Amino acid sequence: MRIILFGPPGAGKGTQALILSEKYGIPHISTGDMFRQAVKDHTAMGLEAREYMDKGELVPDVVTISIVHDRLILEDCTTKGFVLDGFPRTIEQAKALDRMLDEINEPLDAVIQIDVDAEILIRRLSGRWTCTNCGALFNTHYNRSKQDGVCDQCGGPLFQRDDDKEETIRNRVNVYEQRTKAVIDFYSSHQLLIPIDGDQKIEKVTETIAEALR
Ligand code: AP5
Ligand code: MG
Ligand code: ZN
Repeated sequence: MRIILFGPPGAGKGTQALILSEKYGIPHISTGDMFRQAVKDHTAMGLEAREYMDKGELVPDVVTISIVHDRLILEDCTTKGFVLDGFPRTIEQAKALDRMLDEINEPLDAVIQIDVDAEILIRRLSGRWTCTNCGALFNTHYNRSKQDGVCDQCGGPLFQRDDDKEETIRNRVNVYEQRTKAVIDFYSSHQLLIPIDGDQKIEKVTETIAEALR
Protein backbone atom coordinates (compact mmCIF):
# COMPACT_ATOMS: atom_id res chain seq x y z
CA MET A 1 0.00 0.00 0.00
CA ARG A 2 1.30 3.46 -0.91
CA ILE A 3 -0.38 6.35 0.86
CA ILE A 4 0.25 9.98 1.72
CA LEU A 5 -0.97 11.59 4.94
CA PHE A 6 -1.50 15.23 4.14
CA GLY A 7 -2.54 18.08 6.42
CA PRO A 8 -1.50 21.15 8.38
CA PRO A 9 0.97 21.04 11.30
CA GLY A 10 -0.74 19.29 14.21
CA ALA A 11 -3.41 17.58 12.07
CA GLY A 12 -2.27 14.21 13.43
CA LYS A 13 -0.18 12.98 10.49
CA GLY A 14 2.52 11.51 12.72
CA THR A 15 0.02 10.01 15.17
CA GLN A 16 -1.94 8.27 12.40
CA ALA A 17 1.18 7.30 10.41
CA LEU A 18 2.59 5.38 13.40
CA ILE A 19 -0.69 3.47 13.78
CA LEU A 20 -1.17 2.77 10.04
CA SER A 21 2.45 1.72 9.58
CA GLU A 22 1.94 -0.97 12.22
CA LYS A 23 -1.56 -1.94 11.06
CA TYR A 24 -0.57 -2.45 7.42
CA GLY A 25 3.10 -3.43 7.96
CA ILE A 26 4.43 -0.59 5.80
CA PRO A 27 7.38 1.75 6.44
CA HIS A 28 6.58 5.18 7.95
CA ILE A 29 8.46 7.93 6.14
CA SER A 30 8.39 11.32 7.84
CA THR A 31 10.55 14.06 6.31
CA GLY A 32 10.25 16.02 9.58
CA ASP A 33 11.62 13.04 11.56
CA MET A 34 14.43 12.56 9.00
CA PHE A 35 15.42 16.22 9.30
CA ARG A 36 15.29 16.10 13.12
CA GLN A 37 17.51 13.01 13.09
CA ALA A 38 20.00 14.79 10.80
CA VAL A 39 20.03 17.79 13.17
CA LYS A 40 20.72 15.44 16.09
CA ASP A 41 23.54 13.75 14.14
CA HIS A 42 25.07 17.16 13.25
CA THR A 43 25.28 16.29 9.54
CA ALA A 44 25.75 19.04 6.93
CA MET A 45 22.18 18.47 5.73
CA GLY A 46 20.94 18.70 9.33
CA LEU A 47 22.73 22.01 9.81
CA GLU A 48 21.13 23.41 6.68
CA ALA A 49 17.66 22.05 7.51
CA ARG A 50 17.76 23.46 11.03
CA GLU A 51 17.94 27.05 9.79
CA TYR A 52 14.58 26.62 8.11
CA MET A 53 12.93 24.43 10.74
CA ASP A 54 13.71 26.85 13.57
CA LYS A 55 11.78 29.55 11.70
CA GLY A 56 8.96 27.24 10.67
CA GLU A 57 9.90 27.64 6.99
CA LEU A 58 10.14 24.82 4.44
CA VAL A 59 13.52 23.22 3.78
CA PRO A 60 14.42 23.81 0.07
CA ASP A 61 12.86 21.36 -2.40
CA VAL A 62 16.18 20.04 -3.77
CA VAL A 63 17.26 18.84 -0.33
CA THR A 64 13.86 17.41 0.60
CA ILE A 65 13.27 15.66 -2.71
CA SER A 66 16.70 14.06 -2.61
CA ILE A 67 16.28 12.52 0.88
CA VAL A 68 12.85 11.13 -0.03
CA HIS A 69 14.18 9.69 -3.29
CA ASP A 70 17.05 7.95 -1.47
CA ARG A 71 14.56 6.45 1.00
CA LEU A 72 11.86 5.33 -1.46
CA ILE A 73 14.25 3.31 -3.61
CA LEU A 74 15.19 1.07 -0.66
CA GLU A 75 13.81 -2.44 -0.78
CA ASP A 76 11.32 -2.20 2.10
CA CYS A 77 9.50 0.58 0.22
CA THR A 78 9.65 -1.02 -3.20
CA THR A 79 8.26 -4.31 -1.84
CA LYS A 80 5.80 -3.21 0.89
CA GLY A 81 4.92 0.38 -0.02
CA PHE A 82 4.89 3.25 2.49
CA VAL A 83 2.98 5.82 4.46
CA LEU A 84 4.40 9.25 3.68
CA ASP A 85 4.01 11.83 6.47
CA GLY A 86 4.79 15.49 5.71
CA PHE A 87 5.79 15.03 2.07
CA PRO A 88 4.96 16.39 -0.49
CA ARG A 89 4.48 19.95 0.76
CA THR A 90 4.94 21.90 -2.50
CA ILE A 91 3.76 21.30 -6.08
CA GLU A 92 7.41 20.75 -7.05
CA GLN A 93 7.69 17.97 -4.46
CA ALA A 94 4.42 16.40 -5.66
CA LYS A 95 5.67 16.36 -9.25
CA ALA A 96 9.01 14.90 -8.15
CA LEU A 97 7.19 12.18 -6.23
CA ASP A 98 5.22 11.28 -9.37
CA ARG A 99 8.51 10.88 -11.24
CA MET A 100 10.04 8.73 -8.48
CA LEU A 101 7.00 6.44 -8.41
CA ASP A 102 7.12 6.13 -12.19
CA GLU A 103 10.77 5.14 -11.86
CA ILE A 104 9.93 2.24 -9.51
CA ASN A 105 6.65 1.63 -11.36
CA GLU A 106 4.52 1.95 -8.20
CA PRO A 107 1.52 4.33 -8.35
CA LEU A 108 -0.05 5.95 -5.27
CA ASP A 109 -3.17 4.39 -3.75
CA ALA A 110 -4.52 7.41 -1.88
CA VAL A 111 -3.81 10.83 -0.45
CA ILE A 112 -5.54 11.17 2.92
CA GLN A 113 -6.22 14.82 3.64
CA ILE A 114 -6.67 15.34 7.39
CA ASP A 115 -8.71 18.50 8.12
CA VAL A 116 -8.50 20.31 11.47
CA ASP A 117 -9.32 23.97 12.33
CA ALA A 118 -6.43 26.37 12.96
CA GLU A 119 -7.27 27.13 16.65
CA ILE A 120 -7.24 23.41 17.47
CA LEU A 121 -3.87 22.95 15.70
CA ILE A 122 -2.22 25.56 17.90
CA ARG A 123 -3.62 23.99 21.07
CA ARG A 124 -2.50 20.52 19.99
CA LEU A 125 1.04 21.60 19.12
CA SER A 126 1.59 23.63 22.26
CA GLY A 127 0.64 20.55 24.32
CA ARG A 128 2.63 17.96 22.34
CA TRP A 129 5.25 15.72 23.99
CA THR A 130 7.21 13.11 22.02
CA CYS A 131 9.14 10.07 23.27
CA THR A 132 12.89 10.43 22.68
CA ASN A 133 13.19 6.69 22.48
CA CYS A 134 10.24 5.29 20.43
CA GLY A 135 8.62 8.42 18.95
CA ALA A 136 5.22 7.86 20.65
CA LEU A 137 3.15 11.08 20.83
CA PHE A 138 1.31 12.49 23.85
CA ASN A 139 -0.57 15.68 24.61
CA THR A 140 -1.12 17.55 27.87
CA HIS A 141 -4.61 18.66 26.67
CA TYR A 142 -5.85 15.56 24.84
CA ASN A 143 -3.89 12.38 25.57
CA ARG A 144 -1.66 12.84 28.56
CA SER A 145 1.00 10.28 29.40
CA LYS A 146 0.20 8.40 32.63
CA GLN A 147 3.27 9.88 34.28
CA ASP A 148 4.43 13.40 33.25
CA GLY A 149 7.57 13.29 31.09
CA VAL A 150 7.60 9.47 30.79
CA CYS A 151 6.49 7.38 27.77
CA ASP A 152 3.56 4.97 28.37
CA GLN A 153 4.87 2.57 25.72
CA CYS A 154 8.56 2.22 26.59
CA GLY A 155 9.30 4.31 29.72
CA GLY A 156 11.60 6.63 27.73
CA PRO A 157 11.88 10.38 28.46
CA LEU A 158 9.51 12.79 26.64
CA PHE A 159 10.61 16.06 24.98
CA GLN A 160 8.95 19.14 23.43
CA ARG A 161 9.98 20.04 19.88
CA ASP A 162 12.02 23.24 19.34
CA ASP A 163 9.56 24.43 16.69
CA ASP A 164 6.51 24.05 18.97
CA LYS A 165 6.83 27.61 20.32
CA GLU A 166 3.68 29.67 19.71
CA GLU A 167 5.34 32.09 17.26
CA THR A 168 6.94 29.30 15.19
CA ILE A 169 3.69 27.31 15.23
CA ARG A 170 1.83 30.32 13.76
CA ASN A 171 4.40 30.63 10.99
CA ARG A 172 4.18 26.90 10.21
CA VAL A 173 0.39 27.23 9.87
CA ASN A 174 0.89 30.29 7.57
CA VAL A 175 3.42 28.45 5.43
CA TYR A 176 0.94 25.59 5.13
CA GLU A 177 -1.78 28.02 3.96
CA GLN A 178 0.50 29.82 1.51
CA ARG A 179 2.63 27.06 0.02
CA THR A 180 1.37 23.61 0.92
CA LYS A 181 -2.41 23.83 0.55
CA ALA A 182 -2.06 24.04 -3.24
CA VAL A 183 -0.95 20.40 -3.26
CA ILE A 184 -4.61 19.52 -2.50
CA ASP A 185 -5.68 20.72 -5.98
CA PHE A 186 -2.83 18.78 -7.57
CA TYR A 187 -4.07 15.48 -6.09
CA SER A 188 -7.77 16.20 -6.44
CA SER A 189 -7.20 16.58 -10.18
CA HIS A 190 -5.56 13.13 -10.07
CA GLN A 191 -8.65 11.74 -8.26
CA LEU A 192 -6.57 10.43 -5.36
CA LEU A 193 -7.76 12.72 -2.59
CA ILE A 194 -9.73 11.43 0.42
CA PRO A 195 -10.73 14.21 2.87
CA ILE A 196 -11.09 13.10 6.50
CA ASP A 197 -12.37 14.98 9.57
CA GLY A 198 -9.30 15.10 11.84
CA ASP A 199 -11.19 16.67 14.74
CA GLN A 200 -12.34 13.37 16.22
CA LYS A 201 -10.80 11.01 18.78
CA ILE A 202 -7.50 9.49 17.58
CA GLU A 203 -9.04 5.97 17.28
CA LYS A 204 -12.03 7.37 15.37
CA VAL A 205 -9.72 9.11 12.86
CA THR A 206 -7.87 5.81 12.32
CA GLU A 207 -11.20 4.00 11.76
CA THR A 208 -12.33 6.64 9.26
CA ILE A 209 -9.06 6.30 7.32
CA ALA A 210 -9.14 2.47 7.37
CA GLU A 211 -12.76 2.55 6.17
CA ALA A 212 -11.85 4.90 3.31
CA LEU A 213 -8.93 2.70 2.26
CA ARG A 214 -11.14 -0.42 2.01
P1 AP5 B 1 6.98 18.04 10.45
O1 AP5 B 1 7.72 17.29 11.47
O2 AP5 B 1 6.37 17.32 9.32
O3 AP5 B 1 5.93 18.96 11.17
P2 AP5 B 1 4.48 19.47 10.75
O4 AP5 B 1 4.02 19.28 9.37
O5 AP5 B 1 4.48 20.86 11.23
O6 AP5 B 1 3.52 18.53 11.46
P3 AP5 B 1 3.60 18.06 12.92
O7 AP5 B 1 4.55 16.94 13.08
O8 AP5 B 1 3.78 19.26 13.80
O9 AP5 B 1 2.09 17.57 13.16
P4 AP5 B 1 1.42 16.17 12.85
O10 AP5 B 1 0.38 16.38 11.82
O11 AP5 B 1 2.41 15.10 12.64
O12 AP5 B 1 0.65 15.97 14.23
P5 AP5 B 1 0.94 14.94 15.44
O13 AP5 B 1 0.48 13.58 15.07
O14 AP5 B 1 2.30 15.10 15.99
O15 AP5 B 1 7.98 19.15 9.82
C1 AP5 B 1 8.77 19.95 10.67
C2 AP5 B 1 9.63 20.88 9.83
O16 AP5 B 1 10.50 20.12 8.98
C3 AP5 B 1 8.85 21.80 8.85
O17 AP5 B 1 8.42 22.98 9.49
C4 AP5 B 1 9.91 22.06 7.78
O18 AP5 B 1 10.84 23.02 8.21
C5 AP5 B 1 10.63 20.71 7.68
N1 AP5 B 1 10.01 19.82 6.68
C6 AP5 B 1 9.41 18.62 6.92
N2 AP5 B 1 8.93 18.08 5.78
C7 AP5 B 1 9.24 18.96 4.78
C8 AP5 B 1 9.00 18.99 3.37
N3 AP5 B 1 8.32 17.99 2.76
N4 AP5 B 1 9.45 20.06 2.67
C9 AP5 B 1 10.14 21.06 3.28
N5 AP5 B 1 10.38 21.11 4.60
C10 AP5 B 1 9.93 20.06 5.36
O19 AP5 B 1 -0.12 15.50 16.52
C11 AP5 B 1 0.07 16.75 17.16
C12 AP5 B 1 -0.37 16.65 18.62
O20 AP5 B 1 -1.78 16.46 18.66
C13 AP5 B 1 0.24 15.47 19.40
O21 AP5 B 1 0.47 15.88 20.72
C14 AP5 B 1 -0.85 14.40 19.35
O22 AP5 B 1 -0.79 13.55 20.50
C15 AP5 B 1 -2.12 15.22 19.32
N6 AP5 B 1 -3.17 14.62 18.52
C16 AP5 B 1 -3.04 13.94 17.35
N7 AP5 B 1 -4.25 13.54 16.88
C17 AP5 B 1 -5.16 13.99 17.78
C18 AP5 B 1 -6.59 13.88 17.85
N8 AP5 B 1 -7.32 13.24 16.91
N9 AP5 B 1 -7.22 14.47 18.90
C19 AP5 B 1 -6.49 15.12 19.86
N10 AP5 B 1 -5.15 15.23 19.86
C20 AP5 B 1 -4.49 14.68 18.82
MG1 MG C 1 4.53 15.01 12.59
ZN1 ZN D 1 8.59 5.57 24.05
